[in-house]
Amino acid sequence: MSESVATETLTADYHASVTALPRSLARHSPKTPALDVLGVTRQYGAYTALQDVNLQIWPGEFITIIGHSGCGKSTLLNLVAGLDRPSSGSVQLYGRTIQGPGPDRAMVFQNYSLLPWMSVRQNVEEALKAALPGQTAAQRAGATDQALRLVGLWPHQAKRPSALSGGQRQRVAIARAFAVQPQVLLLDEPFGALDAITKSHLQDELLELWTGEAEGGIANVLMVTHDIDEAIYLSDRIVVMSNGPRAHIHEVLDVPLPRPRERAALVQDPAYLRLKAHMLHLLGTVLATPH
Ligand SMILES: Nc1ncnc2c1ncn2[C@@H]1O[C@H](COP(=O)(O)OP(=O)(O)OP(=O)(O)O)[C@@H](O)[C@H]1O
Ligand SMILES: [Mg+2]
Repeated sequence: MSESVATETLTADYHASVTALPRSLARHSPKTPALDVLGVTRQYGAYTALQDVNLQIWPGEFITIIGHSGCGKSTLLNLVAGLDRPSSGSVQLYGRTIQGPGPDRAMVFQNYSLLPWMSVRQNVEEALKAALPGQTAAQRAGATDQALRLVGLWPHQAKRPSALSGGQRQRVAIARAFAVQPQVLLLDEPFGALDAITKSHLQDELLELWTGEAEGGIANVLMVTHDIDEAIYLSDRIVVMSNGPRAHIHEVLDVPLPRPRERAALVQDPAYLRLKAHMLHLLGTVLATPH
């Protein structure tokens, strides 16, 4: 069997295996989606980055978005964050159209965007002041301490961003979002600049902070990644975007793996292997970009 035939077979196997499962929608069967992206198009002048994007995310879901560079992943996240508005269509949070940023959402940007004149600690505290102005100084200090410890920056809290490595800067951005613990956490390739050990540690911390359908804390995560293994390990569903211009959602993949997931066991799980083969086929062949 040639490699492409083997991949096609695995792809068919993946589809056959997940159609036997109840859909995520049936699993949650809520009345109102946590996030509803309704026919969203975003044009930049004559360039149409996103065209007619539709996506429903149910309360408690962990969703990752994957797609080739330039397809519009950050554009979509910015729209959900309320930092940008669609050219047409709308994005709703629990049935209300998003008009701007809010404390219910926090974003870790692809380029970290730290305040360069402030220390690591002040950067985290500043994010808390903006998102949760009702907190007391003691509450803010406590949340900052906890977030700095989680990301391993406690010893570096007095440094300015210019004195940090790339990975440390990225961890400050993650600490800010972890400290705020928004209802919806938006992550734009948050672990891209990290070494494998730090990355897997922070993935597990993120899963700990994600409360799912329980009350309080981070209920939903919407995360952009380029890493197929990361997407499978973390998500309930994976959104695969087509290439731009006029990018849209190519396919939404269910991740049929029970939690808690164990990395070592996953790599031998047939469901994991089928899904990974399908994603490689999608990104490497179906949606391949010319070089
Ligand atoms: N402010 C802007 N003005 C004009 N074009 C833009 C603007 N922002 C994004 N674009 C274009 O829209 C498309 C999508 O950009 P976006 O940053 O969302 O891609 P991405 O999927 O996040 O890519 P990457 O994986 O490289 O981060 C790109 O072609 C980009 O050039
Ligand atoms: Mg991007």
